[in-house]
Amino acid sequence: MFAGEPLVDLLGRAGCPTPCYVYDLGAMAAEARALAAGFEDAPHLVAYAVKANSAGPVVRALAAAGCGCEVGSAAELELALASGVAPRAILLSGVAKSDAEIDRAIGADILAIQLDSVSEVARVRARAVAAGRRARVTLRVNPDVEADTHAHIATGHGEAKFGIALDDLPEAWAELARAPELALCGLGGHVGSQLVSTDAYLRAAERLFELVREREREHGPLELVDLGGGFGIDYGQGCPVRPADFARGIRLLAARMGMGRRRLVVEPGRALVGPFGVLVAGVLGTKRSYAQRWLMIDAGMNDLLRPALYGARHRVEALDTATGNARATYRVVGPVCESADDFGAFELPDPPPERVLLRDAGAYGYTMASHYNGRALPAEIFVGRGGTLSVGRTGSAADWVRSRVDVPSPPL
Ligand code: LLP
Repeated sequence: MFAGEPLVDLLGRAGCPTPCYVYDLGAMAAEARALAAGFEDAPHLVAYAVKANSAGPVVRALAAAGCGCEVGSAAELELALASGVAPRAILLSGVAKSDAEIDRAIGADILAIQLDSVSEVARVRARAVAAGRRARVTLRVNPDVEADTHAHIATGHGEAKFGIALDDLPEAWAELARAPELALCGLGGHVGSQLVSTDAYLRAAERLFELVREREREHGPLELVDLGGGFGIDYGQGCPVRPADFARGIRLLAARMGMGRRRLVVEPGRALVGPFGVLVAGVLGTKRSYAQRWLMIDAGMNDLLRPALYGARHRVEALDTATGNARATYRVVGPVCESADDFGAFELPDPPPERVLLRDAGAYGYTMASHYNGRALPAEIFVGRGGTLSVGRTGSAADWVRSRVDVPSPPL
């Protein structure tokens, strides 16, 4: 079942070739509202991290559910603005922003440009001077907190490239004092992604609140504290916390530390979209090679990179009903010419179904997809109210061929 309807029926109605992503917009919006409810009456902003899933229907559904956006590039900023998100509900993060990105953010008067290094204070100031405007900024602090997650997605520890080290904060304050064109509206942090406990998150939040308190002692109240994203989901190995548990934890901590009046900002990506998307793939064949039984599907690492990049496991299940009860363990692999194009071993009906689905693929699926091996980008099906559908098809293989052939050659 998907969004209250058998997925097979839904796919039949959409008439879409595989591989394709299918998303339940109503469930995404409901999760965003449940998260916001965890803040109760504390002032807050749920700034959806667009990098998790940047499809227009997704961003618009979350905006309609009250979300702002966290964006990581000028293109994501344009996308959020074009999706109707209010500029003052958008934060721009990034460890290396271009002048063009900074200029666009200043021009649009977004909620905050998150300064990621001491040197960025002077850079953003120079752009504000050039634009003749005041820029709203936050400092992204690296709170030196170890999050219990995959090394590639832990971002708030001492060896990560992100944020301003605690030791460097005095220098950042000094730079800010020389920058009247920058309006410091708060502090921020982001400790990592796929956190399955609130511990590290709340430890970082406590450090941020302490820093806010110190800063406010001399400089008056700050408007917001941005605690970042990272709320984990259940990929099949369990996740005892829900997004609303993070909101509740932050609210209680903020109240205990006398931070209740500051606007509490969170930047969830995965948790709002991941569980509400699946990747549907066609089965192309099977083979036995030495001791292994392989199941070849038409989705590859170019469509869903997470298993190859992080060893992530997206449960693979049969989509079409099996004819008998026999089952066998298959290594499920895609068509890309890489050994890492491997989704892992799963028990599936034997003989195998015509199609399979890969679960929890709503976040960092399509957004990390590529044209590797000249492959088309997967289609996307969006399920709206009452089972209504829309279909997105971008990046066909023919477009890819054209774009590569059309690259001009110098004289040979
Ligand atoms: N805020 C900032 C500044 C971020 O860098 C990120 C994610 C988020 C918020 C949202 O984090 P989330 O709530 O989605 O965990 N591609 C990886 C995840 C990389 C996350 C990058 N930054 C994956 O597929 O697991």
